[in-house]
Amino acid sequence: MQGLIADIDLIEEEKSTETCGYKVSNEEEFGSKKLYIESYGCQMNYSDSEIVTSILRKEGFGTTSHVDQADVILINTCSIREKAEQTVRNRLNYFRGVKKRNSDVTIGVLGCMAERLKAKLLEEEKIVDLVLGPDAYRDLPKLVKQAEDGEKGINTFLSREETYADIAPVRLNSNGVTAFISIMRGCDNMCSFCVVPFTRGRERSRDPQSIVNEAQNLLRQGYREVTLLGQNVDSYKWSANENNKARLEKSEETEIVNFANLLAMVAEIDPDLRVRFSTSHPKDITDEVLHTMSEYENICKNIHLPAQSGNSRILKLMNRTYDREWYIERINAIRRILGEECGITSDMIAGFCSETEEEHQDTLSLMDYVKYDFSYMFFYSERPGTLAAKKYEDDIPLEIKKRRLQEVMEKQRQYSIERNQLDIGKTFKVLIEGRSKRSELQMQGRNTANKVVVFDGDYPKGTYINVQIHDCSAGTLFGKVVA
Ligand code: SAH
Ligand code: SF4
Ligand code: F3S
Repeated sequence: MQGLIADIDLIEEEKSTETCGYKVSNEEEFGSKKLYIESYGCQMNYSDSEIVTSILRKEGFGTTSHVDQADVILINTCSIREKAEQTVRNRLNYFRGVKKRNSDVTIGVLGCMAERLKAKLLEEEKIVDLVLGPDAYRDLPKLVKQAEDGEKGINTFLSREETYADIAPVRLNSNGVTAFISIMRGCDNMCSFCVVPFTRGRERSRDPQSIVNEAQNLLRQGYREVTLLGQNVDSYKWSANENNKARLEKSEETEIVNFANLLAMVAEIDPDLRVRFSTSHPKDITDEVLHTMSEYENICKNIHLPAQSGNSRILKLMNRTYDREWYIERINAIRRILGEECGITSDMIAGFCSETEEEHQDTLSLMDYVKYDFSYMFFYSERPGTLAAKKYEDDIPLEIKKRRLQEVMEKQRQYSIERNQLDIGKTFKVLIEGRSKRSELQMQGRNTANKVVVFDGDYPKGTYINVQIHDCSAGTLFGKVVA
């Protein structure tokens, strides 16, 4: 019964991982009661929605894309910037109308905003019946039942162990070719601008065998690419000793699996199953990971290595625990071990507390050095409770933040085009994901560096094909199929 729900339906078509939301399309026959779920924020949240859907399926819930047909409406939320939370508030306003038409519907808020605001959400948003933080989803069936009896519920307990390792996610908005697998949860870094350690709790890694099993299942169902997800995948660490005492009783050895080992384990499953991962942290990405990437053809050559800033003083205030020189050394290591072919992408924050014009220029010059293929770019948004909110004044005026962000975005646009132009004439192995969004007569897929490649023809999705590039835009390569 997997894969019955398909088609992404973007509510806000913004090219940022944190602001686009989807609702489920395609009706699912399964079950008598109906769930409508909408997600915002990073891929971890989207991945969690697939776990939540799986938990409610066991309670007899199918899914619907029509809010007015839903018995339960869930909104999986993001707190990363003020705008992300505003989007959720707007959606709750919209759901107010739905509840007026159908007072029986249960409305739940999940995810990071639920965790950050806790009971305040129930007070502020009267239509909300239940509030569940990211580690409390197993409680959902109980709270839904309570809500049906008219009792509001909340659970924002953060766990040190929960990884939902035993729950098989129900793939939402799937193309049937690519899927995400959460390999860890939480974050132990304390970047001063960031709300994630507060909303997602302590870092914990998932049993590698359950990750391999999930990837094998996906392969059997026809998927050909998995992306391993974590806030800081390089600090993935699983040891039989700490994480699985039962296993230790069987064998006396202490088995430690680090991220490079895990990558190799997943890559070994099948050469036709591609492996990607996100996000890497500049302080933690090791040469061992880079060598493992170079060893396996099916580990895609693309690294998301958020710099945030190109200035060492700002990086220190951000508590990123690396400086400009360290970051540049890691970029050099990527180029040394994986060559020019490897895609490198970043996240950048413009206008962090006390950033001077010169320090902003350092971010632009870092971009000149690296020549990123793509970046997610933001202006700083102060988040209550974070270290930066407590210690530093949010003193850069909004117009200046916006102007600096514009300059960062313009710089990125130039390099996206420049990097894509270098691909003209080259031939790439492309994994076909389906029809092109622009034209029914074209297909699209991605190359190893995660660039979208569009080409003419009609080929089965989930297969590999060689495409020679003859043209490009800032976001897409255009080519034709070659033998
Ligand atoms: N774990 C990832 C990032 C997760 S959040 C990492 O360490 O890189 C995604 C991105 O949102 C961050 O990389 C950062 O660029 C941005 N971000 C986080 N907090 C922000 C804030 N308060 N204001 C603006 N952008 C922010
Ligand atoms: Fe936030 Fe830093 Fe953790 Fe990324 S590594 S989630 S930016 S605290
Ligand atoms: Fe947002 Fe939470 Fe992800 S704050 S970016 S949904 S971890």
